[in-house]
Amino acid sequence: MELRTHNCGELRKENENNSVRLAGWVEGIRLHGKVAFINLRDRYGITQVVVKEDNLLEEIKAIGNEWVIAVAGKVVLRPAGMENVKINTGAIDVEAERIEILSNSAVPPFVITDEITAKDELRLKYRYLDLRRPSMQKTIMFKSKLMHLISEYLQAQDFVNIETPVLGRSTPEGARDFLVPSRIHKGKFYSLVQSPQIYKQLLMVAGFEKYYQFARCLRDEDQRKDRQPEFTQLDIELSFIDEEKIFVLIEKLMQCVFSKLCNIQLNAPFKRMTYNEALETYGSDKPDLRYELHLKDVTELCHKTDFNIFKSAQAVKCLLFETDVSRKMIAEFENVAKGYGMGLGWLKYADNSFSGSVAKFFNPEILKELENFIEHKPCSILFVAGDRKRANEALGGIRNYIINNYLPPKPGQYEFTWITDFPMFDRDAITKKLVTAHHAFVTPKDQTTMEANPDAAIGILYDLVLNGVELGSGSIRPHTRELQEKILGVVGMDAESREANFGCLLKALEYGAPPHGGIALGVDRFTAMLLGMNAIQDVIAFPKTLSGVGLLEDIPSEATEAQLDELSIKIKKDEQTKNIS
Ligand code: AMO
Repeated sequence: MELRTHNCGELRKENENNSVRLAGWVEGIRLHGKVAFINLRDRYGITQVVVKEDNLLEEIKAIGNEWVIAVAGKVVLRPAGMENVKINTGAIDVEAERIEILSNSAVPPFVITDEITAKDELRLKYRYLDLRRPSMQKTIMFKSKLMHLISEYLQAQDFVNIETPVLGRSTPEGARDFLVPSRIHKGKFYSLVQSPQIYKQLLMVAGFEKYYQFARCLRDEDQRKDRQPEFTQLDIELSFIDEEKIFVLIEKLMQCVFSKLCNIQLNAPFKRMTYNEALETYGSDKPDLRYELHLKDVTELCHKTDFNIFKSAQAVKCLLFETDVSRKMIAEFENVAKGYGMGLGWLKYADNSFSGSVAKFFNPEILKELENFIEHKPCSILFVAGDRKRANEALGGIRNYIINNYLPPKPGQYEFTWITDFPMFDRDAITKKLVTAHHAFVTPKDQTTMEANPDAAIGILYDLVLNGVELGSGSIRPHTRELQEKILGVVGMDAESREANFGCLLKALEYGAPPHGGIALGVDRFTAMLLGMNAIQDVIAFPKTLSGVGLLEDIPSEATEAQLDELSIKIKKDEQTKNIS
């Protein structure tokens, strides 16, 4: 006999009198003397099973929650007024004629329900039970649909889905590599790829022209709500294109996804702003444009005050917050600024007069000038002075803090922007040496500037930002060996280390590499945003904790002596004791 004829979300009024067989998990049993009700759940929904026969009533006494059973019976209409409008099958019951236990269950450590109160740690340890909850099932299925839709869209545009290795060579993307020791080649290691960056470029040299892949990327970096050591990118690369074509491709893809999955019609082209504009106006290269809150440059004006810190600062920037802020709020903002190593000055404007920590340094004329900035009263002005970039970033941090804590959330509103014209290089905070700002595979806008003054070099490098989150990043790549070597040279790599680290790419660039470029979008971040969630852990079936631990598998775990011997690896004694203590 078939295990089931229908699923638990399928039966309707029209099925009245049908003989059916359902199978699923027992969500709950209510015993009422001569009758009992079982809520039977599967991926598709819940059906109420009514048990009236004496022998069955006896049988089900042994059954507990989360047991897997099969029920054979007849579909009956629920009595008028007893329908459950909250579930799709709420108009009917299945009257049980036979019940078979397929699998029993230990008492679950938490109730499998969407109103879950269990701690994250417990949910992750028993992830297979957590995933059984309807909301988790919806999330994971939504992600599957999203990925399918993206594939469908790209396949229709002639893109080829190509897998690339996970065991590769280090491609510095700003994180540490996970290393995998080779058993056969003792003392040598593979790196788990941080992204398929080099491979996708090689695929362009190979002539595939349009590549995509849902690529697993592995990065040993500190975790955050929007970071996991293993995550998925929609990785794309194209030949014979410029960044404009990539923007259009991604905008159309986003329009398609939003329309089909969320019934939202997105306007395109998306906004664009340069990195510099973003930093100056929002204090961040991933601004949340759902909120106005602009930073203003008051350097000139503040140089006229009597406040030495303002007078001598490279830049004084301010943020206008159209609220009468409390002392408590000021203390919070000061704390945020401190996190950036900056101080905070503030003024309040109410009843046509200014007060606040820096009021005494502003003479009436300067205050008059400042009034011109103010559109709404009361208003608070938050100042940060110092190095321009750091002042912007500190105010950007305060801006985000205000958005997250003091402004109403805006679910369902999606503000995309492209950030362009990123600097190619940065300075290491400690050594002050030049490092690539993103990765080394970026064509400079102007090669002469790059060579003469790398600090000022701008790359053809772009990010896609949605509601304050970096959704994706890409660039137009150098497609000659000469240029690629120059870029590596700027960050201090000599010929030997260029060859050792990027030899295969450099070699490939000698054999007719087409002009090419691409982008990668974070699929987990994208899914979370579409579902209004802020932690990507919730959209990954088996995620790690913020400290990189797999609670389910209890990893990372120690290797046995035999395994280590086989790999010729010895764990340093002090490391072992460090871990134990
Ligand atoms: P990048 O390193 O910026 O670029 O990554 C692209 C996008 O991947 C997502 N992302 C992450 N998501 C979850 N957890 C993480 N730890 C994590 N790190 C990154 C982000 C990010 O925008 N090879 C280049 C792309 C290219 O140039 O084509 C790259 O990997 O959404």
